[in-house]
Amino acid sequence: MSEKLWIFDTTLRDGEQVPGCQLNTQEKIVVAQALEALGVDIIEAGFPISSPGDFNSVVEISKAVSNPIICALSRAVEKDIEVAAAALKYAKKGRIHTGIGVSPYHIQYKLRSTPEDIIERGVKAVKFAKRFVEDVEFYAEDAGRAELPFLAQIIEQAIKAGATVVNIPDTTGYCLPEQYGAIIRYLKEHVSNIDKAIISTHCHNDLGMATANTIAGIQHGARQAELTINGIGERAGNTSLEEVVMAIKCHQSIPVHTDIQTERIYGTSRLISKLMNMPVQPNKAIVGRNAFAHSSGIHQDGVLKHRENYEIMDPKEVGVHESSIVLTARSGRAALKHHLDSLGVELEGEALREVYEDFLLLADKKRDIGPKDLLALVGKYLDES
Ligand code: KIV
Ligand code: ZN
Repeated sequence: MSEKLWIFDTTLRDGEQVPGCQLNTQEKIVVAQALEALGVDIIEAGFPISSPGDFNSVVEISKAVSNPIICALSRAVEKDIEVAAAALKYAKKGRIHTGIGVSPYHIQYKLRSTPEDIIERGVKAVKFAKRFVEDVEFYAEDAGRAELPFLAQIIEQAIKAGATVVNIPDTTGYCLPEQYGAIIRYLKEHVSNIDKAIISTHCHNDLGMATANTIAGIQHGARQAELTINGIGERAGNTSLEEVVMAIKCHQSIPVHTDIQTERIYGTSRLISKLMNMPVQPNKAIVGRNAFAHSSGIHQDGVLKHRENYEIMDPKEVGVHESSIVLTARSGRAALKHHLDSLGVELEGEALREVYEDFLLLADKKRDIGPKDLLALVGKYLDES
């Protein structure tokens, strides 16, 4: 049996930071319950100090959800941590996620501080959070651009202070997969107490690398992944949950499994898209409208002969009823015949060839060819029979 990968969903925290995506408490409860049904292990429910509304949402989600750990974000600031702990009062299993910037940019320009002071503040925050909950996750913000010896030092101290999970965010989405994987490997090799904590990935998608970086992190030893549904999140987004989960399911060489109920992926994606008013791009992997739509003649013919010729997963595995054969001017006769058959019209040989020629003339002019168009095209043959 492979090791478990803990799925930490941050749709309601990092995802909800996107302008225009804000949800009210009732909507957040609906999302949290959908995430629970999906099988995520941890729900990052919000950043309680940020607003009374966010505080209240963390409280209500804690009451409404039983299985997942409920996590609340805080900066490495005592007041933040106190408020996060108060918001988690009703959580059956609560986690405080606290941390600080660790890259030279963050230390010098954002926090106007020194490496020594950053370690002290990080350690203090973890110790303070431990007064309220056993489960404390430490994030090393902008770890993707940190100096590795310093990163190793602060992670070691955070674990010593009691961190149960150490989060290594590529906050700016800067890393390449090899680099991100190498950071996780470096920590495995240079942090003496690393086995006392779970290493978490948290990748952003500024270069379109978030999924690849997350997988690289897992391959080098991370056992928690921080993800959002549909990859929503600040700027170009976070790592998308559905991509990581299905990559793991499709590749046995990735040595982990998840407890995600994959057949709920598509429904959950639709729910988030609708509630957050955030359309999913049609060619989005796994959940886009075209993810299982075949439109060129060669592919259509191949997939009709055997689904796996052009599909690496069964659409039903992610909750999509079936793949579709779209009729366009690039479609072949096999696709046309498939659609005619489904309308109960069986044409072969010369008749099929003739209708196909008429179909191409129409498809060159019209983008969407539907059942009505097909029935009009074959009308002559129906009359004759
Ligand atoms: O991207 C990031 O660094 C974060 C942290 C607050 C975990 O979202
Ligand atoms: Zn983030």
